[in-house]
Amino acid sequence: MDIVEEIKVCAMDLSVPIMKDETRDVLLSCIRSFPCRKILEIGAGIGYSGTLMLRSLPEAFLTTIEIDAFSAEIAGRFFEKAGLAKRVRLIEGDVTEIITMMDARFDFIFLDGPKGQYEHLRPYLINLLDDGGVIFADNVLFKGYVSDYYIRHKHRTIVNSLRAFIDNMKNAEGFVSELLDTGDGIMISKKTAAISHE
Ligand SMILES: C[S@@+](CC[C@H](N)C(=O)[O-])C[C@H]1O[C@@H](n2cnc3c(N)ncnc32)[C@H](O)[C@@H]1O
Repeated sequence: MDIVEEIKVCAMDLSVPIMKDETRDVLLSCIRSFPCRKILEIGAGIGYSGTLMLRSLPEAFLTTIEIDAFSAEIAGRFFEKAGLAKRVRLIEGDVTEIITMMDARFDFIFLDGPKGQYEHLRPYLINLLDDGGVIFADNVLFKGYVSDYYIRHKHRTIVNSLRAFIDNMKNAEGFVSELLDTGDGIMISKKTAAISHE
């Protein structure tokens, strides 16, 4: 069995989330459309999306962050098995802490982690992104709740964070953003110019 299929079956067996097929198709066409080499992923899961991205871009290097120790361990094993481990830096921990200490630059950021933290993470991610780079954020419409008039109390933090993320990315200086109603909602934001810090 192909390693990607193996990871998919494993995700189903363990009931851990991986991106939808529609999202996968948009993600892969996006990363192939420009020569990105330094990818940051928030939310490694068990390594499905990371494996797909690295297989699509033989020159690329992936830094990926995962809070769940069990998922991170499985991701590490799959990266080894796929022969990709040398091109991966897998960081186990909470992105909200790790991001404050990062200073490497990236030309592609795949945001697929804690939805309630997207808006909090946004300025850090913008700072880590090279000019011409892309932030690809998944799940931004969160099962349609983000567009609903009435928000259930239990979804309020996530929906408010995602709404703020979408609005602020759309209006961010030096960015061109596109919101796609694909999968669970995708926001693709390209940094077109250096941002002036006054
Ligand atoms: C949708 S899954 C990622 C799926 C993966 N990108 C894929 O498609 O194969 C989201 C992941 O984010 C992780 N996560 C949630 N909160 C996090 C945090 N604060 N820091 C790092 N990872 C986090 C979860 O444990 C989960 O594995």
